[in-house]
Amino acid sequence: MQIPDRIESEAALDEALAVPYPELTDMMRRLDGDLLILGAAGKMGPSLAHLARNACCEAGVAKRIIAVSRFSDPSQRVWLEQRGVETVPCDLMDPDAVARLPQVPNVLFMVGRKFGSVGSESLTWAINTIAPANAARTFRHSRIVAFSTGCIYPLVPVASGGSRESDPPGPVGEYAASCVGRERVFEHYSEQYGTRVLLLRLNYAVDLRYGVLVDIARDVYEGRPVDLSVEAVNVIWQGDANNRALLCLEHTASPPAKLNITGAETLMVRDVALRFGRLFNKEVRWRGTPVGTMYLSNARKSLDLFGPTRVDADRLIEWVAHWVSHGGRSLGKPTHFQVTDGQYLTQDNPKGAVSP
Ligand SMILES: NC(=O)c1ccc[n+]([C@@H]2O[C@H](COP(=O)([O-])OP(=O)(O)OC[C@H]3O[C@@H](n4cnc5c(N)ncnc54)[C@H](OP(=O)(O)O)[C@@H]3O)[C@@H](O)[C@H]2O)c1
Repeated sequence: MQIPDRIESEAALDEALAVPYPELTDMMRRLDGDLLILGAAGKMGPSLAHLARNACCEAGVAKRIIAVSRFSDPSQRVWLEQRGVETVPCDLMDPDAVARLPQVPNVLFMVGRKFGSVGSESLTWAINTIAPANAARTFRHSRIVAFSTGCIYPLVPVASGGSRESDPPGPVGEYAASCVGRERVFEHYSEQYGTRVLLLRLNYAVDLRYGVLVDIARDVYEGRPVDLSVEAVNVIWQGDANNRALLCLEHTASPPAKLNITGAETLMVRDVALRFGRLFNKEVRWRGTPVGTMYLSNARKSLDLFGPTRVDADRLIEWVAHWVSHGGRSLGKPTHFQVTDGQYLTQDNPKGAVSP
């Protein structure tokens, strides 16, 4: 796999995100039937659908890749269709509409709600549990990779080495609790119908237009103090996350398999910020005091299954620095990885935001 030294444009970024691992191309040759991606119009879904399309092309197999979302942003629909992905608008909260979706053997479930959870807890619970129930009932005969999050685990110290799949959930706040709800709904229907499911616990994808590394880089570049209250993070290049998510289709099970998907490294926020400071030739300012515990996941199991990530943290930091310092576009969707009390306000006006 060719890894470029830097990424110069959005077109190049979209292409880099959609390069299939050779083993994904091989899997597409073996895999029976089409793919349905539910919640496909968010930050990850379009690149995942594009990747699936590329893997099928390289494999020389004709599969329908069907992207389902409400398409609140209609431009995502156009973007997907230009890349050979079929699109079907559907509200996953509507069980009748979900029942009319095409029945296919392979489903990726990506629907979720996080920001704005404070004050709208009932909506967050509804989207994170009712949409999964509608999907799990309708696609009971499919294999389902259900995106979950490392936030279902308790906060842990760096010395722990990160939460493992066998650790019990310990959600902090209503958003995280609703994500445990999402997992439990899939688990319930998997046990009831024998549906093969994998619960994919993701920690922080990075695609240069958003992600934890982008948040830190922009703080340094734009002269804002970097928050040290959360000392360490796990991140993964979104291309690696999406390749692994698709490969997970062959690791679904009943009762559900559970898998942490993130990078091998535990990155110290201070070290990452200082590195950006050197790359930008800027002084780094600080705020916040370490709270001692944070979301960290142990990626050992997925590293054993899928091998090392193709883009390591070092390369990713260089890509992000180049992107940010050359005016690369931002989605304007900060991750708010510094939140440790489970209180996710709006994406635009987060708790803890400060002026430069
Ligand atoms: N990105 C990360 O770093 C990260 C980290 C941990 C976990 N995750 C999880 O991974 C999944 C995918 O991540 P993401 O960043 O792509 O999430 P995202 O940006 O929130 O995208 C999810 C998409 O689901 C669609 N959706 C929401 N409600 C829907 C409904 N009722 N019916 C149909 N579609 C609906 C939305 O698009 P429309 O408005 O068009 O419907 C939304 O853009 C999410 O479940 C997220 O919780 C992501």
